[in-house]
Amino acid sequence: MILPMYIFGQPVLRKVAEDIPTDYPNLKELIDNMFETLRKAEGVGLAAPQVGLPIRVVVIDLDCISEDEPQFKGYFKAFINGHIIEESEEQSDFEEGCLSVPGIHEKVRRPEKVRIQYLDADLQAHDEWVDGFVARVIQHEFDHLEGKMFVDHLTPFRKQIIKKKLLAMTKGKYQCSYKTKANH
Ligand code: NI
Repeated sequence: MILPMYIFGQPVLRKVAEDIPTDYPNLKELIDNMFETLRKAEGVGLAAPQVGLPIRVVVIDLDCISEDEPQFKGYFKAFINGHIIEESEEQSDFEEGCLSVPGIHEKVRRPEKVRIQYLDADLQAHDEWVDGFVARVIQHEFDHLEGKMFVDHLTPFRKQIIKKKLLAMTKGKYQCSYKTKANH
């Protein structure tokens, strides 16, 4: 089932999301629905707050870019109760966008590597370092679990540039090709 996307301005996007118990009702169905919603919206990552749920569930689909990046063939991963517990000092810049912030793409500086703890879709615990594009996507998605969005990382100058677009978005003025929860 495709879930409506919550857009910038929705309070749930600013909440710190909570860990869930491993017997959370219909978790498998939620993960399936999030993957389906992500594929339909043509994104690489989706966090539960973006579909209105303030819980620590993230799905990442890098299979969709595997034509250009064959190492990601079959990369469909769910991250439950995920937390970043360490980050590298080295940082890099990369252009990001967000399904909850349609029409805005900006360069964001982030650590190159992060150490994460999470449960996978089979509820197995992991503690690992990730780097490269995976680290980039994880940090963007795990930010959502802290009530943060990529535009928060921009310089005051870039924030000023996009201010009007963001304000319009909170009033429901935006365009995208996927189903959204109406802002008003
Ligand atoms: Ni996002």
